[in-house]
Amino acid sequence: MSLSMNPPSPAIPAALEHAQHAVHEGISRLVPDYRPGYHLAPQAGWMNDPNGVVFFRGEYHVFYQHHPFDPNWGPMYWGHAKSRDLVNWQHLPIALAPGDAFDRHGCFSGSAVVCGDTLALLYTGHTWLGEVGDESAMRQVQCLATSTDGIHFAKLGAVIDAPPDAAIVHFRDPKVWREDDHWYLIVGARLSDRPCVPLYRSSDLRHWEFLDYLCSGDEGDGYMWECPDLLRLNGRDVLLYSPQGMQPDGFARLNRFHTGYRVGRVDDARHFSGGPFIELDNGHDFYAAQTLLAADGRRLLWAWLDMWESPMPSKAHHWCGMLGLPRELELRDERLHSFPARELTALRQQALPVETATCSDGHRRLPELAGDLLELEVRLDLAGCSQGRLGLALRCSEDGAEQTLLYYDARLHRLVLDRDRSGAGVDGQRSAALVPGQQWLELRLFLDRSSIEVFAADGRFSLSSRLYPRPDSLGVRLFAEADDGRVTIRRAWRLAAQIA
Ligand code: FRU
Repeated sequence: MSLSMNPPSPAIPAALEHAQHAVHEGISRLVPDYRPGYHLAPQAGWMNDPNGVVFFRGEYHVFYQHHPFDPNWGPMYWGHAKSRDLVNWQHLPIALAPGDAFDRHGCFSGSAVVCGDTLALLYTGHTWLGEVGDESAMRQVQCLATSTDGIHFAKLGAVIDAPPDAAIVHFRDPKVWREDDHWYLIVGARLSDRPCVPLYRSSDLRHWEFLDYLCSGDEGDGYMWECPDLLRLNGRDVLLYSPQGMQPDGFARLNRFHTGYRVGRVDDARHFSGGPFIELDNGHDFYAAQTLLAADGRRLLWAWLDMWESPMPSKAHHWCGMLGLPRELELRDERLHSFPARELTALRQQALPVETATCSDGHRRLPELAGDLLELEVRLDLAGCSQGRLGLALRCSEDGAEQTLLYYDARLHRLVLDRDRSGAGVDGQRSAALVPGQQWLELRLFLDRSSIEVFAADGRFSLSSRLYPRPDSLGVRLFAEADDGRVTIRRAWRLAAQIA
């Protein structure tokens, strides 16, 4: 099957060229201090959600919400990068620019599918009908764009030009997949103050039939679910989404918005019902995740490693936003487990000495491990530890002013990430609960200049956050301020800076 291509509208190449020019200008003004070495970030300007993660002709493509002119959110473009191995990424020309009648003020989030020899993007065309930013007066429609070379896209206009109910105004972030010889599409929507997920079917990606609502939210589920995604793992259906409007509860849901999932089942009538909402990551900065079913059957996931309305000091450096590491998802015991994609071991450049990297009492500095591009494997032995804290301090400055703490809190029986002294702008703790009676905890953590990602308890939970320490705050220290227990770094590597 293939999709015939209409010629691109003449205005668009000029808009793309203009945007590309802005990126080149922006690159010349960048300040490198917080720039990640091996994560995807915009070359200049602003980035938010990952979009259209797809495997096309032997390469992974990742698109993203992009404002090329400014390090602030604005009219959305689709930035684009690709990789053969999930490690080395190449930035490509901007794929989509807004400006047509159907996407006047933004090409919002969406997905990508391969249809024969064509790469097809389904995205939300966004138009402000009143004042810019007035969410009560806007039009959101679902649009199609196609490419045969995977780089240049022809916009084919709106393919779903009205929501299933005229009372729906928020109507965005289509996710498309293939099943039973048809294409299916779900999209995030808000009916009054309730979230819902309209489901559509098509045989050609152009003509879409509204089937029904896959599901709707109840009281307490928030008012809008952005970026819905439906995945099948181990015979279960998992609805992944990014709710707005859910309330914090104890240690849970402390961020402005959240990304999480429900494990359940889509029945014969194509209705999803599932268990409770579980946050996919417990850090400060993780949102709008999207998945891809890779050719080898793995379910890979990318998220935006930031959070709306958080401090973003890199704006002063002419760029903002980055994506988290690609993760592999597995479903075990009704929970998603996430692991850094296995390819990422190729980032390991130099194994660092860890013979003395253990501590059961007091503090131990580890000058040989100092760095800002690091992978560490850590073990916390918790047997007998009933009070106090056991963990490590990262990105420590010589004067002691800066440090990022990751530790087991025995009283809470939780793993805590504390960024009260993590540098410019940021603060606060986030944490995840250990299972009762857990005697040890194994962590794998990644530092990349302005980020930390911690994968814990064999993927059972993760903590991802942005940090903005000074470039010379590089120290690593272990500490054991507890009645018992030990912290040990078992293996450590300096990682290579790979992004093109
Ligand atoms: C999620 C989101 C999407 C929207 C996009 C706009 O972060 O708000 O719902 O499509 O960002 O940039």
